[in-house]
Amino acid sequence: MFFTPQTTVQVEVVDTGERYACTRTESLLRGMLRLGQRGIPVGCVNGGCGVCKVRIVQGQVQRLGPISRAHVSADEEAAGCTLACRVAPQTDVVLCVEGRMAKPFRAGAAARGAGMPSPQPTP
Ligand code: FES
Repeated sequence: MFFTPQTTVQVEVVDTGERYACTRTESLLRGMLRLGQRGIPVGCVNGGCGVCKVRIVQGQVQRLGPISRAHVSADEEAAGCTLACRVAPQTDVVLCVEGRMAKPFRAGAAARGAGMPSPQPTP
């Protein structure tokens, strides 16, 4: 019997509760952009500007290229921080948005009501 590895995994953004699908060969940032959310800043997409900094809370990622030490120190990387444009998920991933992307990302999600509790009917 042949085993076909799952090519698409799920990514959850803790900050907003949003989830998106991402393939194992594309960056976390590319998948995130499909959320169509205003407030996701796209910088160099090359690991150099640091705008897409995230912290992996759960799951495995694989590097797609070098990550600037000016934006993610070795200690931060050991604690799970990375750049979303430079890693691809290998399993389902849970992440937190960090750095310069955090504020506009959360503001964009709040404007759409993502991650907010549903209004309860009044009795
Ligand atoms: S977009 Fe510049 S480091 Fe990711």
